[in-house]
Amino acid sequence: MIKTALFPKEDAQQLNICGELIRSGELVAFPTETVYGLGANALDSMAVEKIFKVKNRPADNPLIAHISDPSMLSGLVKDFPKELEELTARFWPGALTLVLPRTEKVPDIVSAGLPTVAVRCPSHPIANGLIRAAGVPIVAPSANLSGRPSPTTFDHCVEDLFGKVAAIIDGGRSEIGVESTVLLPLGGRRLKLLRPGGITIEMLENQGFQVEMDPAILSPVKEGQKVSSPGMLHRHYAPKAPMTIVAGKAEAVVSAIQAKEEEGVWVLAFEEYLPLFKNALSFGSEKDSKSQANALFDALRKFDSLPCKAIYAMEPSKEGEGLAVYNRLLRAASFQIIPAERL
Ligand code: TXA
Ligand code: MG
Repeated sequence: MIKTALFPKEDAQQLNICGELIRSGELVAFPTETVYGLGANALDSMAVEKIFKVKNRPADNPLIAHISDPSMLSGLVKDFPKELEELTARFWPGALTLVLPRTEKVPDIVSAGLPTVAVRCPSHPIANGLIRAAGVPIVAPSANLSGRPSPTTFDHCVEDLFGKVAAIIDGGRSEIGVESTVLLPLGGRRLKLLRPGGITIEMLENQGFQVEMDPAILSPVKEGQKVSSPGMLHRHYAPKAPMTIVAGKAEAVVSAIQAKEEEGVWVLAFEEYLPLFKNALSFGSEKDSKSQANALFDALRKFDSLPCKAIYAMEPSKEGEGLAVYNRLLRAASFQIIPAERL
């Protein structure tokens, strides 16, 4: 156990103190607009190593370097194609991560030995202020223990990290609720989507970019298959009880799940359908993917505190921000998805 300083929202001194902690090689959990991050000095490989230890994160899963301003890019990436300036001008600061060839300044451990580094400029004022106070880029995976749902509140971070990190900063509930959109530029205006997030395919296409989806977004990766984003390989976001997604029209899904209701069965349901089940948690409104993204991880964590043996989830839409929700839910369910008529 180490001493963990907890900083409430209104404490203005926190960023200088926490910036100093980062500079001296300590870990600080902090809010961003997507999910909470567990930060360390990106240029200090000993500090970065602590992240892998504390989270019990597989060493082959690279980290995202967070910057407070696009001018910090030059120390991290080799060159920055002109077309991408249009992307960063439109979406930075924000929930967009770009994977680019890295300079030798970026320690191997940050990139898990890959020739690239992932970079994001967060918009949350505390995240941005912390990077400025530290004066160095900050690597930050989601501030959960590996395998658990990403934290979207201060309490989630305390639950996973109290006694393991130097400080945790409270910034209220994360606005988006799922992690950033990760893109691998393929040259010109072509992009490969490695992880869907708050910046949607539609938003990228509206900026004149062509987006191809990595197959790992919606299908399990087969053993030995090469992946563009190592994070997609690992078991993720999972509640302790096994979860099954029930696919199909809402009416059919509701009756199929109702037929399975017994002690210990819980349902992850859209709020419109909550009254139809005995034991259910809400994950937002059926028609509103943003509200689902915002509620998902909190609901997944809550199941662990309930006497719950099996979870059935209603199937979300894959449109817009829905794709990010669908991608996280698939992993939380270990890709167990069954059509309502076969449940
Ligand atoms: O919204 C976010 O991105 C949050 C907040 C804290 O900023 N961070 C986050 O980090 O989600 P993490 O470590 O939980 O997820 C990073 C993802 C993983 O899927 C990882 O495999 C991928 O980004 N990634 C990182 N570096 C990469 C690289 N060089 N090439 C391909 N994928 C990379
Ligand atoms: Mg994560």
